[in-house]
Amino acid sequence: MEKFYTDLAQELEKLHEQHLFRELKSVTGAPAEWVEMKGKRLLNLSSNNYLGIAGHPMLKTAAIQAVQQLGCSATAARLIVGNYELYDQVEKDLAQFKNTEAALMFNSGYSANVGIITALAGRGDIIISDKTNHASIIDGIRLSGAELLLYKHADMADLERCLKKAEGYRSKLIVTDSVFSMDGDLAPLPKIIELKEKYGAVLMIDEAHGSGIFGENGRGLAEFYGVSDRVEINMGTLGKAFGCSGAYVAGRQVLIDYLRNKARSFIFTTGLPPAVVASVQAAIQIVQQENWRRKEVLTKAAWVRDELVKAGFNLLNSESQIIPILVGDNAATLEFSSRLFDVNILVMAIRPPTVPLNAARLRLTVMATHSNEELAWAVKYLKHIGQELAII
Ligand SMILES: Cc1ncc(COP(=O)(O)O)c(C=O)c1O
Repeated sequence: MEKFYTDLAQELEKLHEQHLFRELKSVTGAPAEWVEMKGKRLLNLSSNNYLGIAGHPMLKTAAIQAVQQLGCSATAARLIVGNYELYDQVEKDLAQFKNTEAALMFNSGYSANVGIITALAGRGDIIISDKTNHASIIDGIRLSGAELLLYKHADMADLERCLKKAEGYRSKLIVTDSVFSMDGDLAPLPKIIELKEKYGAVLMIDEAHGSGIFGENGRGLAEFYGVSDRVEINMGTLGKAFGCSGAYVAGRQVLIDYLRNKARSFIFTTGLPPAVVASVQAAIQIVQQENWRRKEVLTKAAWVRDELVKAGFNLLNSESQIIPILVGDNAATLEFSSRLFDVNILVMAIRPPTVPLNAARLRLTVMATHSNEELAWAVKYLKHIGQELAII
């Protein structure tokens, strides 16, 4: 029995040696532009609360009222007795927001991706996936038992090569993040759609970081590119721009009926708590009504990117509110993050396996509600410390 624990300890020791050991950092206080950690007040450049609404009074009031009326739990799976009328209404709101026939909520983006992909593909099918897709997509593919072809990140010639290779399979599913979570760049959706139509494939997009931000109504990158109605499976999350928790898939009624019957991560789990679903309802309203938030976040992010590129940082191909600052080495990335912490700026280090080997980076995220002064102040320190550490 002791061997079990010494083996675990040895594995952890290896992680330490490679500067890959992970620890939880605890935040105190409400989610906002500034957070408290270890008694320090820090400018928060690490959250996915892009629109700055996670602590919005409308979300809080909706959640509190739901707790008072419905309690703290769905008490069962949605298909048993865990489906309040509120949930049906919020799914209608989500469908209306995405301009689709129907929508279905999942408890998280992770479980949505795993559930959707395993329901739609299995042995005899083939999935064609961008190499940089989120871990939840990768896990869904692995669990599905379908054949997998990876195409080079956002490389359309390589996608076409894969589509040619995929001839003869029962069904072909292309899956891609819309805004890539660790690189902040954009999937070339119009070209992907052209290819998927040419080769008769189905397309699933993960708008975890696109919805609420891109497109005139905040529906996501597909709206931005004007291709929403040519995407079969539109997945998005509710714990990022929406400031709540959970996820959804939107599309034709027949797709939603199918997933309600087949997606195991939807069927075999307790529904989201009523407080969360009520806050989602309020968030949908804010996202739709307060256009200024997405304009602010994108304008401010563009300014930060500009400044950092001029200073000589490598931001990969970021075009969004997610700004990677490539460092490469794990220890150097941790040092960069820790030096920023010392001056009250919170930018987390992202290391493998979240990103490829030798591609450790800071992942900086901008919120609509950061002030220009706060961002200018952070940029000043990023440049200063970046120079001291010889990153630029
Ligand atoms: C692209 C992408 N998809 C899915 C998820 C998972 O969403 P959730 O945090 O709701 O599980 C994330 C991040 O967490 C993500 O970045």
